[in-house]
Amino acid sequence: LGYVDGGGRPVETHGAHAGHAGTDVATLTGPPTGTPAVNVTLTARQEDITLASGKVVKAGYTLNHTSPGPAIVARQGELVQITLLNESVPGGVTLHWHGLDVPNAEDGVAGVTQDAVGPGQRHVYRFVPQRAGTYWYHSHQVADEQVRLGLYGSLVVTPRRPVSPAPDVDVTAPVHTYRGTRAVGGVPGQFPVQAKPGDLVRIRVIDTDDGSLRTWVAGASYRLVALDGRDWHGPTPVTGRAVLIGAGGRADLEFTMPGDGAQVRVGVGGGTTSVLVSPPAGTGARPPAPPVTAPKDDLDLLTYGTPADVGFDPQRPDRTFDYRIGRRPGFVDGKPGLWWSINGHLFPDVPMFQVSLGDVVRMRITNSSGQAHPMHLHGHHVLVLSHNGRPSTGSPWWTDTVPVKDGDTYVVAFVADNPGVWADHCHNLQHASQGLVTHLEYT
Ligand code: C2O
Ligand code: CU
Repeated sequence: LGYVDGGGRPVETHGAHAGHAGTDVATLTGPPTGTPAVNVTLTARQEDITLASGKVVKAGYTLNHTSPGPAIVARQGELVQITLLNESVPGGVTLHWHGLDVPNAEDGVAGVTQDAVGPGQRHVYRFVPQRAGTYWYHSHQVADEQVRLGLYGSLVVTPRRPVSPAPDVDVTAPVHTYRGTRAVGGVPGQFPVQAKPGDLVRIRVIDTDDGSLRTWVAGASYRLVALDGRDWHGPTPVTGRAVLIGAGGRADLEFTMPGDGAQVRVGVGGGTTSVLVSPPAGTGARPPAPPVTAPKDDLDLLTYGTPADVGFDPQRPDRTFDYRIGRRPGFVDGKPGLWWSINGHLFPDVPMFQVSLGDVVRMRITNSSGQAHPMHLHGHHVLVLSHNGRPSTGSPWWTDTVPVKDGDTYVVAFVADNPGVWADHCHNLQHASQGLVTHLEYT
């Protein structure tokens, strides 16, 4: 498909009006000067991957010989420079900083913000992360295949000033399925992680798969302290409920390690135990692990936590858009079929959403396509106002990926504060490759 191969561009537009530019090139790019605090070279290769479990994935893709690629940790407000070198990935590679609202030119979308980096070529990304949180990076060229086969890694931005209380143990757990094998983490020996009784433990679960996953803690109550790189306001202890994460999403769970001789497990996905935190075995014997049965219910994100100021008035939008996801027969890439549609249009004839800098934008997203679509907007976080008519009354629910199930209606709002042309697509990357893609454009 043109989009993911860095080819075709949408042609029509939506809601066009006489916009004002108000944007110069400098706001679209990262800082050209300055010495980076984080300076990493990531070399992409096609090769076999050995997972932490010892299982080998034939002809996968790696970054610096591993998949997931190196875990990147940066500090809020400090310059990050990442040099992508493509050694041997045939179709070309890019890197997209998922959930990090970087300047447009650093966004890493082949065919939109840059050309794919071919074998033997390189590309330098520079940006300053503005917000602390859990993010990830992945290729955005033929992303369906390249992400699935290994081109991704975690990206954590630590706060400028340490939070209090700071976690004693902080673990990043990207969850990924390689040709039918689910892996958590990737660094051999990363799990189980040791924690002492009383330690505050933070687990950052990242869903790098095409489908949603559920995560929870067994053996202790936990709090959902952040979602999609935004702190949750007023999180209270949760037991017996899971957090549902849409494809591409992240959930940060925190809990206090219970007394001596206790074990805590973090469940991800269909009842699997994947991350295990246990106290040092004083007696030499590992304490028994709590049983892992997946909770029946999910945490209700519309009511969890307490309200807080969101910095704008979502009830007084400058633009409102209807965003209807459906299915219809037609041609995509010259192929006849039943395809995903946006407002009745098929890729690439899907209108862009047009905004002007500073607009408050309200969007009603509906899905009558027969399947779930985690809709990911680049460069922005949106605030969920309601889901199927139920208003959000808990913490402001900021997300970069709206988990729109079949039959769902979400009303979301955001401030158009990051100029450029931004991809907006289903993060079931197979669906994106089948054309469930549009763009947000600043005019
Ligand atoms: Cu995580 Cu457009 O992607
Ligand atoms: Cu989808």
